[in-house]
Amino acid sequence: MSLTQPTTRLMSSHKLKEGQSKGFFIENINLFIVRYQGTVVAYVNSCPHRKVPLEWVPDQFLDYDKQFIHCATHGALFTIEDGLCISGPCNRQSLQQLLVEERHGDIYCTLP
Ligand code: FES
Repeated sequence: MSLTQPTTRLMSSHKLKEGQSKGFFIENINLFIVRYQGTVVAYVNSCPHRKVPLEWVPDQFLDYDKQFIHCATHGALFTIEDGLCISGPCNRQSLQQLLVEERHGDIYCTLP
Protein backbone atom coordinates (compact mmCIF):
# COMPACT_ATOMS: atom_id res chain seq x y z
CA MET A 1 0.00 0.00 0.00
CA SER A 2 1.40 3.39 -0.95
CA LEU A 3 1.71 6.10 1.71
CA THR A 4 -0.57 8.40 -0.23
CA GLN A 5 -3.41 5.90 -0.53
CA PRO A 6 -6.56 7.33 1.10
CA THR A 7 -7.29 5.46 4.32
CA THR A 8 -10.47 7.02 5.73
CA ARG A 9 -13.44 4.92 4.67
CA LEU A 10 -16.51 7.03 3.90
CA MET A 11 -19.18 4.69 2.52
CA SER A 12 -19.96 1.88 0.10
CA SER A 13 -19.42 2.87 -3.53
CA HIS A 14 -22.76 1.56 -4.75
CA LYS A 15 -24.68 3.86 -2.37
CA LEU A 16 -23.42 7.00 -4.13
CA LYS A 17 -25.24 7.15 -7.45
CA GLU A 18 -24.43 9.39 -10.39
CA GLY A 19 -25.27 13.03 -9.58
CA GLN A 20 -25.55 12.40 -5.85
CA SER A 21 -23.59 14.14 -3.12
CA LYS A 22 -23.05 13.23 0.53
CA GLY A 23 -21.63 15.13 3.49
CA PHE A 24 -19.49 13.78 6.34
CA PHE A 25 -18.10 15.11 9.58
CA ILE A 26 -15.04 13.09 10.54
CA GLU A 27 -12.35 14.04 13.06
CA ASN A 28 -13.65 17.61 13.09
CA ILE A 29 -13.39 17.85 9.29
CA ASN A 30 -16.54 18.80 7.41
CA LEU A 31 -16.30 17.31 3.92
CA PHE A 32 -18.46 16.11 1.08
CA ILE A 33 -18.24 13.86 -1.93
CA VAL A 34 -19.95 13.91 -5.32
CA ARG A 35 -20.24 11.27 -7.99
CA TYR A 36 -19.98 12.98 -11.37
CA GLN A 37 -19.49 11.25 -14.73
CA GLY A 38 -18.78 8.05 -12.85
CA THR A 39 -15.95 9.48 -10.77
CA VAL A 40 -16.03 10.47 -7.10
CA VAL A 41 -14.56 13.81 -6.01
CA ALA A 42 -14.15 15.06 -2.43
CA TYR A 43 -13.89 18.57 -1.00
CA VAL A 44 -13.69 20.27 2.36
CA ASN A 45 -17.16 21.66 3.02
CA SER A 46 -16.21 25.31 3.33
CA CYS A 47 -17.00 28.12 0.91
CA PRO A 48 -13.81 30.11 0.19
CA HIS A 49 -15.89 33.27 0.43
CA ARG A 50 -17.04 33.17 4.09
CA LYS A 51 -15.66 29.80 5.24
CA VAL A 52 -19.14 28.49 5.97
CA PRO A 53 -20.57 25.10 4.98
CA LEU A 54 -21.99 25.07 1.46
CA GLU A 55 -25.28 23.27 1.99
CA TRP A 56 -28.55 24.19 3.70
CA VAL A 57 -30.21 20.85 3.09
CA PRO A 58 -28.22 17.80 4.28
CA ASP A 59 -26.32 16.07 1.45
CA GLN A 60 -27.50 18.59 -1.18
CA PHE A 61 -24.35 20.17 -2.58
CA LEU A 62 -25.27 20.48 -6.26
CA ASP A 63 -27.29 23.03 -8.17
CA TYR A 64 -30.70 22.19 -9.61
CA ASP A 65 -29.26 20.78 -12.86
CA LYS A 66 -26.54 18.84 -11.03
CA GLN A 67 -23.89 20.54 -13.16
CA PHE A 68 -22.13 22.54 -10.44
CA ILE A 69 -21.43 22.51 -6.72
CA HIS A 70 -23.54 25.22 -5.20
CA CYS A 71 -23.04 27.41 -2.14
CA ALA A 72 -26.51 27.88 -0.68
CA THR A 73 -25.56 31.01 1.27
CA HIS A 74 -24.80 33.39 -1.60
CA GLY A 75 -25.22 31.21 -4.65
CA ALA A 76 -21.62 30.68 -5.76
CA LEU A 77 -21.11 27.91 -8.34
CA PHE A 78 -18.06 25.64 -8.46
CA THR A 79 -17.04 23.13 -11.11
CA ILE A 80 -17.55 19.60 -9.86
CA GLU A 81 -14.30 18.31 -11.40
CA ASP A 82 -11.87 20.72 -9.75
CA GLY A 83 -13.87 22.91 -7.33
CA LEU A 84 -13.12 26.18 -9.12
CA CYS A 85 -15.63 28.96 -8.48
CA ILE A 86 -16.97 30.21 -11.83
CA SER A 87 -19.75 32.45 -10.52
CA GLY A 88 -20.38 34.32 -7.29
CA PRO A 89 -18.50 36.37 -4.73
CA CYS A 90 -15.54 33.95 -4.57
CA ASN A 91 -15.06 33.88 -8.35
CA ARG A 92 -11.76 32.19 -9.37
CA GLN A 93 -11.17 30.81 -5.88
CA SER A 94 -11.32 27.06 -5.30
CA LEU A 95 -12.69 24.58 -2.81
CA GLN A 96 -10.07 22.49 -1.06
CA GLN A 97 -9.98 19.18 -2.88
CA LEU A 98 -9.25 15.94 -1.03
CA LEU A 99 -7.66 12.78 -2.34
CA VAL A 100 -10.37 10.20 -2.89
CA GLU A 101 -10.32 6.64 -4.17
CA GLU A 102 -12.74 3.80 -4.74
CA ARG A 103 -11.40 0.36 -3.99
CA HIS A 104 -12.95 -3.00 -3.13
CA GLY A 105 -16.43 -1.48 -3.29
CA ASP A 106 -15.82 1.35 -0.83
CA ILE A 107 -14.97 5.06 -1.07
CA TYR A 108 -11.95 6.31 0.86
CA CYS A 109 -10.49 9.77 1.25
CA THR A 110 -7.48 11.43 2.82
CA LEU A 111 -8.31 13.97 5.52
CA PRO A 112 -6.42 17.28 5.37
S1 FES B 1 -20.57 31.91 1.65
FE1 FES B 1 -20.55 30.84 -0.25
S2 FES B 1 -20.85 32.39 -1.75
FE2 FES B 1 -20.98 33.44 0.15
